[in-house]
Amino acid sequence: MSRKKIALIGGGQIGGNLALIAAQKELGDIVISDIPKAEGMIKGKALDLMQLRPHDGYDVNIEGSSDPAIISGADVVIITAGVPRKPGMDREDLLGINLKIIKDVANNVKTHAPEAFVIVISNPLDAMVYAFYKLSGFPKNQVVGMAGALDSARFRTFIAMETGFSVQDVTCMVLGGHGDSMVPLTRLAAVGGIPVSELIPEERLNAIVERVRFAGGEIVKLFGNGSAYYAPAQSAIEMAESYLRDKKRVIPCASYCEGEFGVDGYFIGVPSVIGSGGVERILEFTLTEEEKAELNATLEKVKKTVAETGL
Ligand code: APR
Repeated sequence: MSRKKIALIGGGQIGGNLALIAAQKELGDIVISDIPKAEGMIKGKALDLMQLRPHDGYDVNIEGSSDPAIISGADVVIITAGVPRKPGMDREDLLGINLKIIKDVANNVKTHAPEAFVIVISNPLDAMVYAFYKLSGFPKNQVVGMAGALDSARFRTFIAMETGFSVQDVTCMVLGGHGDSMVPLTRLAAVGGIPVSELIPEERLNAIVERVRFAGGEIVKLFGNGSAYYAPAQSAIEMAESYLRDKKRVIPCASYCEGEFGVDGYFIGVPSVIGSGGVERILEFTLTEEEKAELNATLEKVKKTVAETGL
């Protein structure tokens, strides 16, 4: 069996960590594509990563180039091309600049990797994944946005920090757009199957939900120049792995909805089954009236940003 090929478009902070984790999981050969100005940086990162392999014996090849053809025949494409936030910026402030970049990237992926399962990470996520879908003309199951996996990981982290219990036993789900109006579902959060409402007082839980909503911004503020990269990279790799190994994991992802949860014609965070068919299913379930109202509010924000793409 020949090795799978993973193409990373954008070899910056998240891109570098995607390459590292994909190599450590031996998901396949890795290519990093970036603009000519960044060619030295990605070639250097690729070589550095090649030299990390002997210790644990990861037999994968890692290569970087500014020639877009390097992604040819990729099984998975992960897009981080774009600019990250600076303090004081919302993800939506990146729309103009990142939309131009996604247009260029969609062309390249369509030309060189038309069969790939595409995971978009660039922000504002819900609009960028929509733009990629429209511009590439790819089927809906072949395109997905990484947001809910990260937002849920943040929720799990804060609950583990609050209770002191293993993060491994915390389960959480965050639905909706990848912005401050996201919907962390406290009703479904649990530690070892025990509802968190039994373990954490209500006001503490509310504070955690608020922290989850602004968790990306908290890191942007601390960095002063850029946004989070370790957890975003790990979150996207979980999705790529589920596709490549047909694991059929249930992960909240920005998937294209056609009626699910009352959303029609938009990408928004919903529980999605990822397997060899890409986004194989969206798992719809009954929301409370309050949750429905919150989902509608986040959908309105997503619609507004999507409208600004003009697509
Ligand atoms: N094609 C390929 N790569 C590109 C292109 C393009 N047309 N335009 C820009 N890039 C590259 C940049 O050269 C840079 O190396 O994308 C990379 C982005 O890396 P960083 O600036 O380090 O940003 P990062 O932290 O990785 O975040 C990338 O993901 O989470 C989002 O908001 C974040 O939109 C941002 C994206």
